[in-house]
Formats: sequence, C-alpha cells, structure tokens
Amino acid sequence: MTDTRITNHPILSNEKTLQLIHFTFNGKKLMAKKGEMISSALFANNIHIFGHHVKDNSPQGMFCANGQCSQCLVLADKIPVKSCVTPVNEGMEVRSLDGLPTLLKDDVIVNKGGKIPVVDTKVLIIGGGPAGMSAAIELGKMGVNCIICDDKSELGGKLSLQTHNFFGSIRDCFAGTRGMDIGNDLTSVVKNDNNIDIWLNSPVVGVFSDGFVGIVKNGIYTFVKPERLLVSTGAREKTLAFPGCDLPGVYGAGAFQTLVNRDLIKPTDKLFIVGGGNVGLIGAYHALQAGIEVIGIVEALPECGGYKVHLDKIKRLGIRIYTSHTVLRTEGSDHLKRVIISKVDDKFQPIKGTEQLFEADTLLIAVGLTPVDELKKQADVFGFRTYAAGDADIIAEASAAMFSGRITARQMLMDMDYDVEVPPEWNDLVEILRSKPGVAQKNISWPNDKEMYPIIRCMQEIPCNPCTQACVLQSIKIKESSMKGRPQFDGDCLGCLHCVSICPGLAITLVDKNYDETKKTARLTIPWELPYGTVRLGEKITTTGLDGEIIGTGNIISIKESKWQDRRSL
Ligand code: FES
Repeated sequence: MTDTRITNHPILSNEKTLQLIHFTFNGKKLMAKKGEMISSALFANNIHIFGHHVKDNSPQGMFCANGQCSQCLVLADKIPVKSCVTPVNEGMEVRSLDGLPTLLKDDVIVNKGGKIPVVDTKVLIIGGGPAGMSAAIELGKMGVNCIICDDKSELGGKLSLQTHNFFGSIRDCFAGTRGMDIGNDLTSVVKNDNNIDIWLNSPVVGVFSDGFVGIVKNGIYTFVKPERLLVSTGAREKTLAFPGCDLPGVYGAGAFQTLVNRDLIKPTDKLFIVGGGNVGLIGAYHALQAGIEVIGIVEALPECGGYKVHLDKIKRLGIRIYTSHTVLRTEGSDHLKRVIISKVDDKFQPIKGTEQLFEADTLLIAVGLTPVDELKKQADVFGFRTYAAGDADIIAEASAAMFSGRITARQMLMDMDYDVEVPPEWNDLVEILRSKPGVAQKNISWPNDKEMYPIIRCMQEIPCNPCTQACVLQSIKIKESSMKGRPQFDGDCLGCLHCVSICPGLAITLVDKNYDETKKTARLTIPWELPYGTVRLGEKITTTGLDGEIIGTGNIISIKESKWQDRRSL
C-alpha cells in the first residue's frame, strides 16, 4: 500500500492541515502534517510497528489511539511517550521502544527546577467530549466558573470522529446533524463563554487525598483544588484474547475511526471486523467511505446487536455478516496477514471443521466499551464532591451523553443552591436515548394508490424522529407517544426529498411514478454517501433489497448535490 492519505472522501476534506513538517523515525527522514499525532504520522508513512515487547520481543503497534492502552509507546526526543496522544514537532527524533524505557528524573519532564502552580476552581470537568462540554455550557449559563481539561489537543472527544448524522430528535439533541459538526458547534459555545477555562493537552495524573487533582497542563505539572469534580472521561474499548490479538494490524474500531475520520489516513486496504454492534457496523460504513474494502464482520450472537438501519446499509453495499461466528486466531509474522474464523455453538464454543480463512491486513475489534471511571472511584474514596456524566457513567450513544452532561450540571447547580431544576422530560429523554433497539419487523408497507411517496425502511423501534420533523406536509408520523416508535407515511407527498436527505439511517427512498407516463418504470431517489465517482450519470446499476439481495436494475438519471443536503448525494 502506498497512498495512505485519503483525498477522495464524501464528507471530509483534507484542506485544513496541509502544512507539512519533517521528523525522523529510527534515523529515517519522514514528513508529517503539522499538528498530527506521532502514531498517525507513522501510519501515514506506512509504519505500523512502533517497537517490541519487553517479554517476548513481539512487534507492538497501536490499539486504542486514545491514550488508554500504552501499546503505542515510542521515544520522542529521548522521552517515552504514548505516540497516539503526542503531537509530532518539526525536527522531532522518534525512535522505537524496544523493551522498557528508562524513566527520566522528574525535573527533566516537568517544571524544570520549579514550583508547582496551584489553581482553585468551583468546578473541574475532566474530559471535553459531548458530556463534559454540555455540562460546562449549562454551568456557564449560570455564571459558574469551571475548568474543562482534556488530554487531547482539541475539544470534542469522540464527536470529532463521527461523520454520520445523529439519531434522536432535532429539537433535543441535534438529530440529523453530523457528530463532528455538533462537536464544532459545542466547542464554539464553550470557547465563547468567559466562565469556562479550557485546558487542552492536559492529562490528569491523579486525584489525591488532600483534595488536589494533579494535571500536566501543557507540560507544566499543576495542582487544581476544585470545590466539585465532574468526571466525563468517556469510555475505552474492550479487547478480545486470541492467538495473534496483539499483532500490528489488530486494533480497536475507535482507533480506526481516529485514523480515517480525524486524520484522513487510510491505514488498510482489506479490513475484517469483530463485533456487530453499532460501533462495528458504523466502522464498516466509515471504511467504505474511505475507499477501504471490508471483507466481513463476525458476530458471536445469532443477530447483530447494532441498529438494523446500520446493518441494512452495509448489507446493501455487499458486506458479508457472519453471525454465530467468532475469530479463532490471526496469522502473520510481524503484521496481520490472515484472519481465521469459525462458527460457534450456543455456548459460544468454536465448532470444529467450520473454520474459514480470509486474507486481510487489518482486524478491528468492536466488542464493546467500558467506562473510564477510575478517577471518579478514587475521588469518591478521598471524599471529593464528585459527579459523573456520559460514558464514564453509563455507556450509551453520544446524544445521551450530551443530555447526561446537562442533567448532571443541573444537579450540581441544585447542590450549590442555585434556583434551577432538572425538567422531568430531560430524564425521560435520556432514558429513551439510552434504550436498546426494539425487535425488527419483517414487512414494509407503501401506499399503492399514490403516485409519489417515501418508502421508509425503518423496521425497528429506535429513538429517532428527524423524518417526522423534516416532512413539509407532516405526512410522516410516529403513532407512539415517544420518539421511539416506527415512523409511518400517511398523507400526501410533495417530493421535497427532505426526509431522504435527513434520515440518519439512510433508510428512506422516494418513489415518483409520474416520471414515466407509461408507468412501466418509476424514479427512485436514494441517499448516497460514498466517495465521488462510485456512481456515474448514465450508469446502469443493480438494485438490492434490505438483505443485499439483487432485486432489479436501474439507470442513474440524475445526481443531486445541494448545500441543504449536507454532503449527502441523492
Ligand atoms: S495508548 Fe496509544 S494506542 Fe493505546
């Protein structure tokens, strides 16, 4: 693989960071984009082996790309660092870490010969993702001073990786807007609030029994004494143990999204995925958007647990799903080359004789998340006034994390005797946003007596309603009282296409029978979010049903791209 920078992406553009700098890896001169992390710069140069393990000299690369696992340690200008959270600088000398690093004296690393600054604050928020930013905004509205600190160089957390439209409701949690755009909007609100002090590149080292929190603020070790502490540190990815699970080329789905969606790096040509939850299914879709071949997804359960609309859209694009299967092992000497899977019985044990081998250079692990809540637990032990929000509290979608941040901030304000309350509907909403999807229905219906209508392939109860709010004639409705129902078309259709354009699951097609006077054909308008050039005007295509089965052929008669479609072609 030679071309590692993504230049053709339907949603993302490479414009913002074109400034190039130089660095070396093991003495070899390389180029990086200014501001990118060392691990990303290495991947962009096709280097996936960062060092070797102290115990067995096995090659080590990257797993989480989120500062959580330490697999990516390198020496940067002689200092051992996690390469996935350390920006590369002009002239930086990066070397592999083979074995254990030598620890440096404290005064070489921080506060050369100096004092440790002490900062008091009413509220310290650890983690600047959707929950932390939403909480800070709520506190800022009441004039409460707070510090929001994050170990990354930008606010946003995982929102910056989420190129897809959010589920939920437009009014309450920006549904129908792309996660990365929500992240940018929240960031500008936080930046414009004088009550909020933002500390970036500032990892928290620990919480202490005397009520201080130790933070390396941009390289300066600093003590913060907060009156209240909010931990919104998100989640880390779980892993799986199997022979070859630490080969370079095996990493978390979040790490993959970081490389592809944040840094526009194409780390692989052929990808396999373990885990059919939302993270795995969305990871597969993001890979297709980056022009990467997805060989398949294995899921140990008999059904994928992610939203059916995510599953349907990747099945339509030809990805094979192996349910009731597991990964047995990977093979390759210093990088993944093959993935071996097998069927499992009802106790999840591999069934002999069912093994299948696939050539792939990358295996993504998407088997769930676990809260990053160690700081909260330790702060509780030391008697801090602590709160948790977002995934650090309960793992759920980012829309739920935003609401959880708002609710937690209101609770904190009430504890500080501010005259506010938590509206009961907020609690109801966060419960709905956290809820599991319902059972998928089998049948789709459409009105045979109409000439123009949407077919809504939203077969499962999920918390999502932007189509009902986008319909100009209000002909799309959810009959149930909550937004967690199935939207149904009942009324007239103007053909405005707003429902097709906004549906986060890409599950709506518009049928126009007026297009052909003979009524032998119809015009179908479908949403399309794959790289430019994957469909062409005049091209003959095969059309597929929900499970990816071929149902007919069609001609591309028009490709519609307008600003209001927000980077989605129709
Ligand atoms: S800490 Fe860098 S890959 Fe996990």
